[in-house]
Amino acid sequence: MKFFVDTADIESIRELSEFGMVDGVTTNPSIISKSGRHIRDVIEEICSIIKGPVSAEVAATECDTMMAEGRKLAEIASNVVIKLPLTWDGLKACRKLTDEGHMVNVTLCFSANQALLAAKAGASFVSPFIGRLDDINLDGLDLIEEIRTLYDNFQFPTEILAASIRSANHVLHSALIGADVITAPPAVIRQLADHPLTDKGLDQFLADWKKTGHHIV
Ligand code: G3P
Repeated sequence: MKFFVDTADIESIRELSEFGMVDGVTTNPSIISKSGRHIRDVIEEICSIIKGPVSAEVAATECDTMMAEGRKLAEIASNVVIKLPLTWDGLKACRKLTDEGHMVNVTLCFSANQALLAAKAGASFVSPFIGRLDDINLDGLDLIEEIRTLYDNFQFPTEILAASIRSANHVLHSALIGADVITAPPAVIRQLADHPLTDKGLDQFLADWKKTGHHIV
């Protein structure tokens, strides 16, 4: 399973990538806005650190303008993935940009039928949003399961990029279901290391070690 980090926070990307926790990065207009920087500068800096796929989202809603923006974003670096919303215009732009040889991540996916369309349009990635479905009392993980079954039934090569991940539980169950990639904020990725018994065990080991009065170095 691949780990993408859903952030424009350069320090977190750098820190997590130093020990192999970042296979790629995803951003969206809200994340870019929060950074306070121009999308070009943010994506360029991320791509100087991360060699895997880095998603940069268009802001246009009409096919031709989406394509123009997508091409512009793809000029930033060879590992830029053009992120397009799951609308008819987005799907049309996906097909055309894919045919031109670009990688496309179709985002804001909330149903298996939408994911089917993204695969038909040739998307490299589809991003189903787990947390936002949970927010409206649906089960976002059910959607990951449906898309996995659907893609496996027809051998669609589009990768399932489980997004809107809010908890360690979302990561675990996305992995168990067979999502190809998870994208999560740095805090959620850090949380995966936490376990109370690890903390308790370490406290005990350190207390016992102190009693020896020894030093390893
Ligand atoms: O990048 C898309 C997605 O991960 C957004 O997550 O938490 O804003 O629903 P969230």
